[in-house]
Amino acid sequence: MAPFYSLLSLTAVYLLSAVSAIPVSEPGVSLSATKVPGTPCTTFDHRKEWRDLTVEQRLGYINAVLCLHKLPPRDKTRAATTRYEEFQATHILLTDRVHSVGHFLPWHRHLGTLYGNALREECGYNGPTAYWDWSRDADVSTPILESPIFHPVTGFGGDGVPGTYTLPPDPKNESAIGPFPGGPFGNRIWKGCVKDGPFKDSVFHLGPGRMLTNHCLVRGIDDQWKRMLTSDNVKTMLKAKTYEEFRLVIDAFNGIHGGGHILVGGEMTNTYSAGADPLFYLHHANLDRVWWHWQQADPANRLDDVSGPTTKGGRIPVTLDFEIDFPALGPNITVRDTMDSSLEPNCFTYE
Ligand SMILES: *[C@@H]1O[C@H](CO)[C@@H](O)[C@H](O)[C@H]1NC(C)=O
Ligand SMILES: *[C@@H]1O[C@H](CO)[C@@H](O)[C@H](O)[C@H]1NC(C)=O
Repeated sequence: MAPFYSLLSLTAVYLLSAVSAIPVSEPGVSLSATKVPGTPCTTFDHRKEWRDLTVEQRLGYINAVLCLHKLPPRDKTRAATTRYEEFQATHILLTDRVHSVGHFLPWHRHLGTLYGNALREECGYNGPTAYWDWSRDADVSTPILESPIFHPVTGFGGDGVPGTYTLPPDPKNESAIGPFPGGPFGNRIWKGCVKDGPFKDSVFHLGPGRMLTNHCLVRGIDDQWKRMLTSDNVKTMLKAKTYEEFRLVIDAFNGIHGGGHILVGGEMTNTYSAGADPLFYLHHANLDRVWWHWQQADPANRLDDVSGPTTKGGRIPVTLDFEIDFPALGPNITVRDTMDSSLEPNCFTYE
């Protein structure tokens, strides 16, 4: 661990580089979009767990997120006020189309790729895309808040402070806010504003749910949900024989997808606006990593195994040719384009 004073000077260096970072491509077109989907990758993003990044990489990542908070949105006709919010807005807009469907994992995989590309190409981050392997925290009895992911300097800050946030009126209006706040967990998990760490002064404009309100980063960390995220649970999931079995377990109400959202609490529990919390991307990168490991265990059969409905509760099955879209973030691709991490536009491995 570097001494505290050198952490401070590193922070200063990265802040300077963040300020000088400028967008390097045309609005709405990522540099990586110029590569043809399905062609072999020439460079790889070797994704790493947060605590396995160097301190410099962790500070670089955080400052790149803060840089996305400062960049303007590329599509100014929408509600997003920053480039960061544009990713959250895309998720809000598409929530009902990309959950409880066959392309849940493919769509979130590509969202994570686009986000990692933005950190590097638009904000000068030069490390790997990070994931949060919550099993490393769930397997031990140490309080979750002691995880390096919640560190105030080299992490994303800690818990919400009770009494510092109140949900807007009528949280039970599901069409306005999404199911969770008025749902089974109640307002209690919107504990309060995060008052330490890099995002303590950040103002978010989208959410909760589909509402537009100016608010802080809201969390409500609760150790009891660690039980959903243990490595034993992940091992059981990896035994799934088909994609159908795998996707239903990962996205079950008590599965590892919901587990990561509920453990952090607050905005992370809102299906629509969860992307306000930067941990959203590290949580989903870990879900993607579990899928990747499952695929890698039998690539001949699993790199083209996809199933499930195209719409929630629908009857039309998703195929490899099914088109998925990412408004304001990049061009449409097909489910096929997300399946093999060694081909464009993916180009990643997990360590
Ligand atoms: C619920 O929210 C939606 C979307 O904001 C709004 O159109 C509708 O009027 C609200 N319903 C009630 C009963 O407040
Ligand atoms: C991208 O996909 C969306 C949703 O399926 C569709 O409405 C849109 O027309 C597509 N855009 C292009 C350029 O094909």
